[in-house]
Amino acid sequence: MILNNIEEISYITAAVLFIIGLKKLSSPATARTGNALSGLAMFLAVLVTIVGRTSVTWEWIVIGVAIGVVIGSLSAYFVKMTAMPQMVAIFNGFGGGASGLVAYLEYYNNSGGLITPATSLSVMISVIIGAITFMGSFIAFGKLQGFIPSRPILFPIRNIINGVILIATLSTILWILVDNTHLTPIYAAITFSLILGVLLIIPIGGADMPVVVALLNSYSGIAAAATGFVLENTILIIAGSLVGASGIILTRIMTKAMNRSLANVMLGGFGSQDGSSSPVLQKEERPVTTASASDVAMILEYARSVIIVPGYGLAVAQAQHQLRELSDLLKPKGVSIKYAIHPVAGRMPGHMNVLLAEANVPYDELKDIDEINGEFQRTDVAIVVGANDVTNPVARTDSSSPIFGMPILNVDQAQTVIVLKRSMASGFAGVENELFHLEKTLMLFGDAKNSIEEVISETKDL
Ligand code: TAP
Repeated sequence: MILNNIEEISYITAAVLFIIGLKKLSSPATARTGNALSGLAMFLAVLVTIVGRTSVTWEWIVIGVAIGVVIGSLSAYFVKMTAMPQMVAIFNGFGGGASGLVAYLEYYNNSGGLITPATSLSVMISVIIGAITFMGSFIAFGKLQGFIPSRPILFPIRNIINGVILIATLSTILWILVDNTHLTPIYAAITFSLILGVLLIIPIGGADMPVVVALLNSYSGIAAAATGFVLENTILIIAGSLVGASGIILTRIMTKAMNRSLANVMLGGFGSQDGSSSPVLQKEERPVTTASASDVAMILEYARSVIIVPGYGLAVAQAQHQLRELSDLLKPKGVSIKYAIHPVAGRMPGHMNVLLAEANVPYDELKDIDEINGEFQRTDVAIVVGANDVTNPVARTDSSSPIFGMPILNVDQAQTVIVLKRSMASGFAGVENELFHLEKTLMLFGDAKNSIEEVISETKDL
């Protein structure tokens, strides 16, 4: 009785910590605390479950914990920021797979008609969603890591084939509800779901994978919550529901910021083939104005207000430390510096925040799109560092453009615009950027890190 009470109180404490942790993750200033609180909540939940519920011997638990700690710590230290989406994909896959496996084992141990229809239903939900998440996440990982071609792999009548397999998968639930005395329906469900996991993800292009990873994250939460019902474990239900809900909210934020529907992402075939820049198909050669590093240093010398617009190219060039150094040089000269963060700049949620935090850029200089957009017209210089689509004014004006309707940063309203990129290649959406052809825009071609280093050295010489 007392043990039960301690367990319930600990679970509720863990749930509250999860919720506070999630809330704190929503701002860069509190994200570290949020992460630590969520970690503490998970530790508490695992500890209470191990002490109170498990029938497994301690040696196995210690071995399992040791393996997890080694993999987790090595990943945290060695996985590069640009490889985060694939790491999250793999972890989601393991989460979904583990939930499905635990639910399956519970059914296996109680099969022969001992299990109630409600529990059978939870088992099937967990097994099906877990297997789809497991396989889908590994395909997403393969595409992001380059093991599988990242271009959309499209084959004829794929939607019909997927529909038939989906119906077959769902039929296994009816089957088990009618007859829960043997294991065939569960094995059929696992097989169909693994196939579905592959077929649903291969038509989606590599660059859309971050949205898919967020969706699979949500699925892994649903699978965990379903397993929570199977095991009658409150914290698993709560934690799974939080992951399910936050994953779907994140998916929605990402698709909204890209002005795409979830269906449009999931049906596949969008974007340049591998999500990297592709040459713009220009009907005619249109002029752009180029600048040298010393021109840029001179312009910045006379500016009073500067907005820096980071994008995917900043992550590729790993130029965040140089960017910070440049702003540190300009601030003592009386220049106000702000960073404009678009919600889908880069290739994963919070990509720019994390990069800039790594270079210790003060949080109060990071402004989100709604906060900063009104300020561009009062700003002397906007420096675009490896950003493209998120600054393209055609999103406002050209209804035939694939990015029409996507909210963009009003960079074109600044007095002078400086763009740092390597060439005239397009960004993720594969469209030409009108910003580059404006009279007020100066292009500084080159790798962003090298360009900023040159600007720094010119600024020091002034
Ligand atoms: P993009 O539009 O993809 O443009 C990035 C630009 O960076 C390219 O034009 C490229 O031009 C330049 N670049 C690449 N390497 C560089 C380097 N070493 N030095 C300097 N420049 C370099 O990036 P964005 O403006 O950040 O927009 C993000 C896009 O990704 C949006 O279309 C968004 O919808 C999509 N997306 C975002 C997410 C998330 S969650 N963030 C997820 C999926 C898709 P060069 O090759 O000429 O240098």
